[in-house]
Amino acid sequence: METMLKEKIDILCENHILPAEDFVLLLENISPELSAYAAEKASGIRDSIYGKDVYTRGLIEFTNYCKNDCYYCGIRKSNSCAQRYRLSEDDIFSAASYGYSLGFRTFVLQGGEDAYFTDDVLCRILVRLKDAFPDCALTLSVGERTRESYQRLFDAGADRYLLRHETANSEHYSFLHPASMSLKNRKECLYTLKDIGYQTGAGFMVGSPHQTGEAIAEDLIFLRELSPHMVGIGPFIPHKDTPFGDEQPGTLEETLFLLSLIRMILPEVLLPATTALGTIHPKGREMGILAGANVVMPNLSPREVRKKYMLYDNKICTGDEAAECLGCLSGRIESIGYRLSASRGDHIRRKNNV
Ligand code: 5AD
Ligand code: FES
Repeated sequence: METMLKEKIDILCENHILPAEDFVLLLENISPELSAYAAEKASGIRDSIYGKDVYTRGLIEFTNYCKNDCYYCGIRKSNSCAQRYRLSEDDIFSAASYGYSLGFRTFVLQGGEDAYFTDDVLCRILVRLKDAFPDCALTLSVGERTRESYQRLFDAGADRYLLRHETANSEHYSFLHPASMSLKNRKECLYTLKDIGYQTGAGFMVGSPHQTGEAIAEDLIFLRELSPHMVGIGPFIPHKDTPFGDEQPGTLEETLFLLSLIRMILPEVLLPATTALGTIHPKGREMGILAGANVVMPNLSPREVRKKYMLYDNKICTGDEAAECLGCLSGRIESIGYRLSASRGDHIRRKNNV
């Protein structure tokens, strides 16, 4: 059995895709030996493309207002326990300036779907940041918008956009979201973003309620099809004030194994070892890098608001200064033989990859 599973992994490295039933088979038979085999292969692929560099992105969580009501998310609109905040344009600028002085060359502006941040307001922020830091990449992560809106934001200076698809199975999608949201629109947004020219990121939670092996296989096949520049995955972690507050979290083993598989499916992908991974295990992010990830996203949000951007319970790094976060992370990355890179860390598109 073990030999047959390893052969499937070899085929995946070669072809970058497997039939859905083979993905399901692999996921049903995760073992320490199989994970180690996958991690070694995935690390080799990542090293051959990006070397020992791990890219950093400074995350600025600028609003926790959200008009959506995703059942898993701590900042959903129905969570009346959430203390809402919105950073001012000056606060956002100061966070980026401080990040720049620490060496960050990519900023990720992430927030809930907050109507206050109209295209005009966001464009003003983008233009100001691009003017001040022309050598930096600007990434947005502000949910579903119209093509016109995405285009305006791109023209104002946004280079990249993160929008996790959350699950590529429509039944599962409707289990995680209210009827006002649809997988169809989510996927259309992703194709639009790519079409406009953004470096685009998709992704999903591992172990979200009702997720099956078949649904994950659909996620992997969708990722190959979309071929995004970035993929964000992390374990689902329950948040006590949401409808999924009593559900089980996703596991470390499955998340690490999936990071390895995604590296094989999209060899050049920019793949973060996420904060959620660091939350379910003290060495989660280091293990994520060793499984094939190559990005970390330290928190640059002002300290006063960090505890309010609680997508899930017990989120790490909410008490530290940005400089502490960076110092801590670079120590962690060096301890496993990698180094943090200060460069923009653009996606490398090789000739033969779609
Ligand atoms: N556990 C883990 N990840 C979560 N996210 C939202 N809520 C949770 C949770 N409870 C993820 C979603 C979203 C990203 C910003 O955070 O995948 O796209
Ligand atoms: Fe934030 Fe370690 S990365 S304290």
